[in-house]
Amino acid sequence: LTQTTFIAVKPDGVNRRLVGKIIQRFEEKGFQLVAMKMIQPPRELVEEHYAEHKGKGFYNGLVDYLCGGPVVAMQWKGKGVIARSRAMMGATKDAAPGTIRGDFSIEVGRNLVHGSDCAEAAEREIKLWFGEDKINYEDACE
Ligand code: CMP
Repeated sequence: LTQTTFIAVKPDGVNRRLVGKIIQRFEEKGFQLVAMKMIQPPRELVEEHYAEHKGKGFYNGLVDYLCGGPVVAMQWKGKGVIARSRAMMGATKDAAPGTIRGDFSIEVGRNLVHGSDCAEAAEREIKLWFGEDKINYEDACE
């Protein structure tokens, strides 16, 4: 099933110069980059993005962190991209070696990337971060 998901490189990924490496993993896997922008997201956007974590102990720090620096927001398209990109990112805690988090991160609060966890989240997050912007893009290799 061809899907589109929302992937973001968080400020720690940008500051640690890992944007290229993270993009490369998705490209090499065979997924297609269909939208990308770098922004320092407004607080309201981040609060809505992480609405499900509201009230948790790490929520305020998480929101402060994400809207306190540059984020590279992307849409990636491909077969099973939602679950597959989650697998490529690795778990939130103790991500396995070979995954992006497992290879490059040791802290749950500085875990480099975000990826939508299901189709509903992907749709919601794409709308939230990209609005109604539609990109008409034909892949020459498709
Ligand atoms: P993400 O996949 O973007 O979704 C929720 C985020 O909350 C998660 O990545 C982590 O960055 C963050 N998070 C989850 N658990 C904790 C925690 N215990 N302490 C700090 N941040 C956390």
